[in-house]
Amino acid sequence: MGKRIKHIFIHFHPPSGMRGTTQHRTPSAPQELTPHRTHLTVPTLFISAMTATPPNLIEADGLCMHYQLGNRQVSVLRDVNLRIAAGASVAIAGPSGSGKTSLLLLLSGLERPGGGHIRVDGVDLGSLSSDGLADLRRERVGIVFQSFHLLPSLSALDNAALPLQMAGASGAREAATDMLRRVGLADRLHHRPSQLSGGEQQRVAIARALVHRPRLLLADEPTGNLDDQTAESVRELLFSLNRELGTTLVLVTHDLDFAARCDRVLRLHDGQLHEATPIGGAKPTSPQAEAGHGLPA
Ligand SMILES: Nc1ncnc2c1ncn2[C@@H]1O[C@H](COP(=O)(O)OP(=O)(O)OP(=O)(O)O)[C@@H](O)[C@H]1O
Ligand SMILES: [Mg+2]
Repeated sequence: MGKRIKHIFIHFHPPSGMRGTTQHRTPSAPQELTPHRTHLTVPTLFISAMTATPPNLIEADGLCMHYQLGNRQVSVLRDVNLRIAAGASVAIAGPSGSGKTSLLLLLSGLERPGGGHIRVDGVDLGSLSSDGLADLRRERVGIVFQSFHLLPSLSALDNAALPLQMAGASGAREAATDMLRRVGLADRLHHRPSQLSGGEQQRVAIARALVHRPRLLLADEPTGNLDDQTAESVRELLFSLNRELGTTLVLVTHDLDFAARCDRVLRLHDGQLHEATPIGGAKPTSPQAEAGHGLPA
């Protein structure tokens, strides 16, 4: 657990010059457009743009993870394969101890897998140093930890502003104030974590994870400590960011309402990840949901 607590500091690791080395996916350009082909190709391109499968934001192959406990190996994940399309919302369920948190730690690059490969937004995590991983997280990933990992000496406002401040962005406090307002904490800006309830701390953690508008949100039971009404406002916030900004949501959750509203529900069991039918029936299929089904998860 001590190791996990130190992750928060790694998460906000200062810039290290990795910028410019990451690979962004760009749609391949048409090879050559003759006048004749242009005439035919424009509508074709239009149609293909309308029906194109979105690229995967997460691709993981053959993931294995184990913890070393003395001379014993605790195997947690075995040969996990996963595709998550950009803009999708995915719930991860599974019994306590099945490896949900461990999987999020791998996808965020906070832990390295014992085997297999992970690409996030086109970047092979295995190719990055810890500085590079910290840069990737700061620029593109928001993480809500199961036990929040707020910095105890900072106010709610300073905790939430931290990712933008570490990135040297202007307007960090204004953006953090706005995000804290959106999670219902406008009147708790100057409280330190010890002066906040568990649910309030959880919402500060959510505001901090979202303040830099990440492409990917990895959230570990983000409504676990919230009453029904507050949980609903957090669900609304996450899905509105998913709709408006295309933020990809990967949510570990036991919250059935949450899971039912996601594009996909995956279940971890016995070290393996399986596609599960969303509780309450499948949501109308979106291109994002379809795109993630390429591999059995
Ligand atoms: N640092 C560690 N050393 C040894 N074993 C560990 C360590 N961290 C986790 N584990 C073990 O790995 C397994 C998976 O843990 P993990 O936290 O990923 O489960 P989880 O599905 O998130 O559970 P929960 O729903 O209770 O949060 C558990 O059996 C746990 O005891
Ligand atoms: Mg967990």
